[in-house]
Amino acid sequence: MCGIVGYCGSQSAVTPLIQALRHLEYRGYDSAGIALGVGGRLFVEKRAGKLANLESALDASPPLAHSGIGHTRWATHGGPSDHNAHPHVDNDGKLAVIHNGIIENYSELRVRLQSRGHTFSSETDTESVAHLLSDLRKEHQGDLAAAMRDAVKALRGSFTLVAIHADAPDVVVGVRRNSPLVVGLGDGENFLASDVAAFIDYTKRAIELGQDEVVRITPTTVEITDLGGRQIEPKEYEISWSPSAAQKGGFTHFMLKEIFEQPKAVADTLIGRLSDNKQIVLDDLQMSADQIRAIKKITVIACGTAYHAGMIAKYAIEKWAKIPVEVEIASEYRYRDPIIDVGTLILAISQSGETMDTLMALRHAKASGARVVAICNTNSSTIPREADAVLYTRAGPEIAVASTKALLTQMIAVYLIALHIAQVNGALNDRQVEELYNELLELPGKIQAILETVEPLRALTRSFAQNNIVLFLGRNIGYPVALEGALKLKELAYIHAEGFAGGELKHGPIALIDKGTPVIVILPVAHEDGLDEKMKSNIQEVKARGARVIVIAEEGAHIEGAEHIIRIPVAPALLQPVLATVPLQVFAYEMAVARGNDVDQPRNLAKSVTVE
Ligand code: AGP
Repeated sequence: MCGIVGYCGSQSAVTPLIQALRHLEYRGYDSAGIALGVGGRLFVEKRAGKLANLESALDASPPLAHSGIGHTRWATHGGPSDHNAHPHVDNDGKLAVIHNGIIENYSELRVRLQSRGHTFSSETDTESVAHLLSDLRKEHQGDLAAAMRDAVKALRGSFTLVAIHADAPDVVVGVRRNSPLVVGLGDGENFLASDVAAFIDYTKRAIELGQDEVVRITPTTVEITDLGGRQIEPKEYEISWSPSAAQKGGFTHFMLKEIFEQPKAVADTLIGRLSDNKQIVLDDLQMSADQIRAIKKITVIACGTAYHAGMIAKYAIEKWAKIPVEVEIASEYRYRDPIIDVGTLILAISQSGETMDTLMALRHAKASGARVVAICNTNSSTIPREADAVLYTRAGPEIAVASTKALLTQMIAVYLIALHIAQVNGALNDRQVEELYNELLELPGKIQAILETVEPLRALTRSFAQNNIVLFLGRNIGYPVALEGALKLKELAYIHAEGFAGGELKHGPIALIDKGTPVIVILPVAHEDGLDEKMKSNIQEVKARGARVIVIAEEGAHIEGAEHIIRIPVAPALLQPVLATVPLQVFAYEMAVARGNDVDQPRNLAKSVTVE
């Protein structure tokens, strides 16, 4: 939440700062602002609303400066307004600071600083830092990095801070605690940013900053210290994403582009996972066969869409590997004394690798002695760096706030883990594993087939655009799909959408059904367990009460009572979510477009939820 950028170099700083904010806007879009160091004074411009408002304000004639900081905000303390927008400035008008996270002790700091004569002009927690840094910088004879080190010692919470002072305009200083900050190493220019997308147009060389590390950049130098002022040797890495991955590439929205990238994302995540001797290759887990055989219980921690991938992990691991799996909403996990022992393996699933709730749950599990494996899409982000091991999904950058391709690759990752454990502990034999793996390899082609026949669904969706409620029904592995369909619709169409387990319908939710209520049913794969028949009964029950029923069903399945049937290719029951999710993504996308909503940046949301 909140996107941060700092720049020092030879370009007119407005250009790389605005370009970076365009790439970071998905992290928050309640306001945007910049501060530039211009010959002994600061130029500050900030505007409530989207970045476009700031850009128009700057159109007149932005001053020439070669360093600056920029911010795009997701509001926590203080509503989205011009005066609460970042950067925040000290009373001398010379020091500016931007912030991502929450300063938990901001009110006591504010009282203390006011008693020392500082006047405040916003309701934010961040402004306290501007005043605090200002005092500390004076105490440290103008050394902003030393001031930042001391400031951090006085702060509680999670934060990334970046600051600039007009008297030394070619120095930008940053720090991180629990929130992300990366350094971009350019040629005669350097960057600080919340993520690499901010500077990928300028450089592919980066340094990930560690916890409680302070960084000071100039156009030609990067110095990193711990809070005691000791130098830290930076670990440089090469960014593998190409700049074009962060462009829309001809699609109207990032979300639509990312939906259409799913066949490739799934295929990429599967590359090289079966050896010539038919063993699932998951060296990424860094677990010996003995360690895997010693797993007694698996707990998945995740939030939102990633939580739905966790639910799928439960079905797959319990079915194939015969190990009990709990799935926990990460924000609830550490507050209820979970039972963790040496036989517990934790799977932390996160696209961004920065979700604070998941990170805190991970830390709790590690502190209790559990081994943590992350499933993550963002290289070198905090969750994989703090986990014992990481299996990276290979979805590429996901820019739209609504997660699509990341989810499908998370599903692939959990299937691979389930198969690997099942093969090692002997719950499945090599032939069974190979057959299932071959089914996984078929999925990219099947997703592609769905995407090639998606136009009628888009037209159908538009006919539901005025509805203010949509219900989703699933059973077994279709249940998390129903939850995901509802979550996508809520966040994009801003309507009441709920997912239910089909069997729960008669225990309450059926009271919601009224004449014309759209109900989307994920029909289970026909199987000897008869689940599909039970779901067909649910279809009749909701239809009898006036519902408009849309069914997602595999080719060939016989269905009565549906107003519309969306066909998906045949796949083994446990793999059906990879296919059934795709039409629901398209449905939510099209609803958002039809209702005139901002698809890539839905209201009140941010891509990375970096506060608890
Ligand atoms: C999904 O569409 C959401 N925007 C959201 O639920 C997201 O999946 C959740 O915040 C978890 O994010 P993460 O995968 O980056 O941890």
